[in-house]
Amino acid sequence: MSRPRLFVTRKLPPDVEARLERDYDACLNADDRLMDAWDIVKGCKDRDGLLATVTDRLDAPAIEALPSSIRIIATFSVGYDHIDIKAAKARGLTVTNTPGVLTDATADIALLLILGAARGAGWGEAMIRQKSWKNWAPSGPLGIHLSGKRLGILGMGRIGQAVAARAQAFGLKIHYHNRQRLPVSEEQDAVYHETPESLFAVSDILSINCASTPETRGIINARTLSLLPKDAILVNTARGDIVEDDALIEALSSGRLAAAGLDVYAGEPDIDPRYRTLPNTFLLPHLGSATHETRNAMGFCALDNLDAFFAGKRVPNPVTA
Ligand code: DGY
Repeated sequence: MSRPRLFVTRKLPPDVEARLERDYDACLNADDRLMDAWDIVKGCKDRDGLLATVTDRLDAPAIEALPSSIRIIATFSVGYDHIDIKAAKARGLTVTNTPGVLTDATADIALLLILGAARGAGWGEAMIRQKSWKNWAPSGPLGIHLSGKRLGILGMGRIGQAVAARAQAFGLKIHYHNRQRLPVSEEQDAVYHETPESLFAVSDILSINCASTPETRGIINARTLSLLPKDAILVNTARGDIVEDDALIEALSSGRLAAAGLDVYAGEPDIDPRYRTLPNTFLLPHLGSATHETRNAMGFCALDNLDAFFAGKRVPNPVTA
């Protein structure tokens, strides 16, 4: 029997590519060359499925231009804001993602951002590297104490809940907003807020853990930042476009906000250059899911979805909205 033909947009971990080559007629990207939507459309000629990821912007015109042989898009990511799902549905395409397997890794990075931003890990490390550390000084520079502070979590899905569980070990009191309140048994004693605004008002630290949707894009802006307590910290492991850069940079420059820890950025990797020059930012390059174990698990999860689809079974992780 002939194997399904796949177009794979990025170089994947070796064990994932080995399984791909064993079970599929897979067109791989050995050089990991970044492709634009039109390269992808061309590469999909005579292919049955597309294995894409967060760097592939598949907007409506690109989806409409995909060859009719393509029947499924499996994204190697939990987020799917890079795919126009409505356009994919309109073409009858199945879309799948990789939820669950990157929860722990991403929550770990959120804690790293909280600690890094609160304790000045960015400027501290820079002092060592730039040889500007003169001596231990009682008066500073100083960071922010975590125990007893309130951590606001915007988006209490799997990752938000995993952040809450970890943060409690640091003595943080958890508050959250979610479209739907969690059952009390799953709330981990966190305080629910019906509106984002009510959450912002009590968030000494605000962790963004919601998906990027039309409702959440730009939700962190000058107005909402002004609701945070003075000297608050913002951390973002979700998507860059949830934050308006001008507003965040202004709040960090003026000292209204104490610090920010960021792993994701609008337009990444071309981030707003002002972030680099601010002393109170702790910056990582979208490392949320970047562990060997997690990237393997993401690849295997994407493959489980493709396997099920081509076997005529229900896919485990359909994207429905
Ligand atoms: C995802 O899967 O959406 C993440 O952003 C990748 O780290």
